[in-house]
Amino acid sequence: MKTFGKVILAGEHAVVYGEMALVAQISLGVKVEVVVGKKETDLLIRKAVELAGGKDKVGVKITSEIPIGSGLGSSAAVAAAIIKQVRNYFRKPIGEDELFEYTMECERIAHGNPSGIDSASVVYGGLITFVKGKPIEKLKIKNKLKLLLVNSGKPGETTREMVELVAQQRGKEKNIREIGKIAREIRDKLAKGEEIGQLINKNGYLLEKLGVVGKKAITLANKLREMGAAVKITGAGGVKTGSGMMMVIHPNLEKIGSVLRDEKIDYWPITIGAT
Ligand code: MEV
Repeated sequence: MKTFGKVILAGEHAVVYGEMALVAQISLGVKVEVVVGKKETDLLIRKAVELAGGKDKVGVKITSEIPIGSGLGSSAAVAAAIIKQVRNYFRKPIGEDELFEYTMECERIAHGNPSGIDSASVVYGGLITFVKGKPIEKLKIKNKLKLLLVNSGKPGETTREMVELVAQQRGKEKNIREIGKIAREIRDKLAKGEEIGQLINKNGYLLEKLGVVGKKAITLANKLREMGAAVKITGAGGVKTGSGMMMVIHPNLEKIGSVLRDEKIDYWPITIGAT
């Protein structure tokens, strides 16, 4: 039993304020096995086990391919995997909508004020448009989208701290509306099979303006942009150290990959629209 991580193609942070975001499930996943009699000490794991009805009776063994705290939805994927697997163990399989609600409960503990996008992605899968509090919409895209996830370094902050940082920022509204508009434009272009590089870059610059991208990631993003790439962080970002994963689009991803290899920067090629 496995659940999968996610990449936000457009709209992170703005989605907390009711704007549209686009999110795709990726093939990096989490596997959970039930371990009878194990006592969980981690708050989140304990909560997920409890929600699934396994309190004190069972614990879990988690194996994850998703780098933790890098913007790829690791916490929601772990919570959903635990809930599903513990319920299967007790022979009470869980439906999607209930799984979404329980995963959200865990995300509220982890993130404070989550929009629900990570929970929606892990539960409903595929490529979806997400607006807080509204039903998700599955998005069919005309051409597969190939991109690289590039590690700009582990953030020094949690998602909760990054969401709070944006909340405190004065004059953020204009940038947030602009990000929402770009997300809707990207949705339309993907449906028609059109190029989205310029819009991804615009979203990337707006996140930098919003103050969620650190110096290290901005320097790397600008270097890749000079090579003609479109770059934005994906997920909550970070400013103290790294900013988590960045998504990079370029007609020649192999060329970008060879530069990253030379600089010993980790990256993962992924294809959207093929999960
Ligand atoms: C985190 O994956 C995405 C954020 O927009 C937070 C949220 O939507 O809950 C930063």
